[in-house]
Amino acid sequence: MNADIGNEILRLKEKGLSKLCVEESLEKIAALTLEINKLKKEKKAVIAAHVYQRPEIILGTADFVGDSYKLAKDCVGVDAEIIVFCGVNFMAETAKILNPKKRVFIPRKDAGCSLSDSIKAEDVRNLKKNYPSAPVVTYINTSADVKAESDVIVTSSNAEKILRKIFEKNKQVIFIPDKYMGKNLADKLNKKIGTDIILWDGSCVVHEKFDPEIISDYRKKYPDMMVMAHSECPSEIIKKVDFMGSTSDMLKQIENTNASHYMLITECGLGELAAVKYPNKKFIAMCRLCPYMKMITLENIKDTLLNLKSENEIFVEESVASKAKKSIEKMFEFAE
Ligand code: 13P
Ligand code: SF4
Repeated sequence: MNADIGNEILRLKEKGLSKLCVEESLEKIAALTLEINKLKKEKKAVIAAHVYQRPEIILGTADFVGDSYKLAKDCVGVDAEIIVFCGVNFMAETAKILNPKKRVFIPRKDAGCSLSDSIKAEDVRNLKKNYPSAPVVTYINTSADVKAESDVIVTSSNAEKILRKIFEKNKQVIFIPDKYMGKNLADKLNKKIGTDIILWDGSCVVHEKFDPEIISDYRKKYPDMMVMAHSECPSEIIKKVDFMGSTSDMLKQIENTNASHYMLITECGLGELAAVKYPNKKFIAMCRLCPYMKMITLENIKDTLLNLKSENEIFVEESVASKAKKSIEKMFEFAE
C-alpha cells in the first residue's frame, strides 16, 4: 500500500468512516476519495451531498452536507466553476437554477424521487384552473417545470413557517405534491383538507412504509427515548412521535437535548451521520434506504469529474429556470 493511501485511510478513520457500514474495503475507498479530491482541485469543483448519501461520499469527499434547504443555500454563489451534486435530480436542478452560470453535474441522472415523479407542470396548471384564487405552495421535491408553475417553494425545514405566513393573507392554499406532509401541516395549523388545503396524491416511497406499531414497542423498552420522524411520514406515525421535521431539524434536536435514546424514523443515512456526529448518544435508527439517493457511488463521482459528460450535466431551459428561480427566492425571503 502506498503512503498516500495509508494517510487517506487514517483521515477517513478520523472522520469516523471505519465505524460505519461500507460495501468496499477502506483501501479501495481511500484510493477513490484521494483521486476525487485531486480532481476537484484540478477542475475547480465542489461536491454538495445530501445527508442520505453513502457515508464514504459524505465523510470522504463532500464540501457541503445538509438537508434540501441548506444545500440550496450553500450552492448560491459558491466559489467554484463546477458543482457536482450528490443527491437526487430535483436537488441538482435547484442548484443549477440558482447558479445558471456554473456547470452543475449529477453522477446519476436517473436518481429521481417518487414525490418529484408524481406531478407534472400540466397537473399544476389544472389545479390552478380549478382553484384560481389559491396560491400554489410547492415542496422542493419537484421538477423545475413544476416549480415554474408555483408561487413559493418550501422544504421540510420551513414549510410550517411559510404556510402560516401564506394563510395570513389567503383562505385557501394548494399544497403539492406530498399528501402526507400536507396532512401533517394541516393538522398543525388546524386547517381542513379539501377546503383550506388542496392536496396532491404524491408520497415518498421511503417514508410512507414505516410501521407505527414499532414506536410503541420500543417505548416500552426505552421509556426515556425521544422519537423523531421526517414530515414526509404518514400522520399515523407523526401522531406517535415527539418531534417532526427535516433531516437538519432532527440533527439540531439531538444536539440540543439529552434523551436516553433517539429513534430516527427516516432514511438510514441520517442515523449513520448522527452516530458519527454524536458518538456519546444512543440511536435506534430505522433503516430504510432511498433507492434513488443510494444510486450514486464514489466510482461514478470520479467518472463524472474526470469526463464532465453532457449525460451527467444539468440543463434547465432559461424560460423555466427564471420562473422557478422566482418561486425559490420567495422561499428564501419567507424563510429568513
Ligand atoms: P430534507 O429537506 O429534510 O433533507 O428532505 C429531503 C428528502 O428528500 C427527504 O426524503
Ligand atoms: Fe424522494 Fe423519498 Fe428518496 Fe427523499 S427519500 S429523495 S422524498 S424518494
